[in-house]
Amino acid sequence: MADSTPAPVIAIDGPSASGKGTVAQRVATELGFHYLDSGALYRAAALVALEAGTNLENESDIAHITMNINVIFDGEHVRLESRDITDAIREERVGVAASRIASWPKVRAALLGRQRSLRRPPGLVAEGRDMGSVVFPDAALKIFLTASVEARAERRYKQLMGKGLRANMAALLHDIRARDARDSERAVAPLQKSAGAIVLDTTGMPVEEVVAQVLARYKQAPQVP
Ligand code: C5P
Repeated sequence: MADSTPAPVIAIDGPSASGKGTVAQRVATELGFHYLDSGALYRAAALVALEAGTNLENESDIAHITMNINVIFDGEHVRLESRDITDAIREERVGVAASRIASWPKVRAALLGRQRSLRRPPGLVAEGRDMGSVVFPDAALKIFLTASVEARAERRYKQLMGKGLRANMAALLHDIRARDARDSERAVAPLQKSAGAIVLDTTGMPVEEVVAQVLARYKQAPQVP
């Protein structure tokens, strides 16, 4: 008889630029697990909406776009059908738009099945805002990564400059604060530490150390054989 136990999930949630992406990717590589960047789905929908000139305040139109886009994760690349949108979705204006459309319940609902479909053996590392609270409430391990606003703005600055994109520190600080407020205060699936999540403050902590801590916690998690 086939084993019906669902593949284990490590849920990594946290605010913007808390290092979730890098940490989640490395943990997935270490364990040979699949990786879900849920923010990329919101960003892809936001990109399409911005390019189409759709009113971001129109929940039904945005949900319609979200339901109909085909986002493909291809290694380190994110594609929309055949178009490579890896860099385009990282632009700050797209992140801001993603955070705005993410407050619509219909948009979140449109992405739920897609996210859950990526749960496959041998396991999944999923990162976002509501991985542990809504999408994978039965995750084997829930981590809530934080870092000071200044540390996060600096990381985002380096990330953007490294990609040859424009960046302005004061504007980044402002955007991150605004996004924190929007992500935390929205009515549906707000950014919050879910029950049972382990908080890791990564301010001043090298990424290797954060990865090592997550792996150590996973090995101690009760569901792990
Ligand atoms: O994580 P990232 O910055 O790429 O996410 C972009 C935006 O998408 C976030 O500011 C947040 O509003 C939204 N998001 C979300 N739930 C997730 C992932 C991202 O609401 N699980």
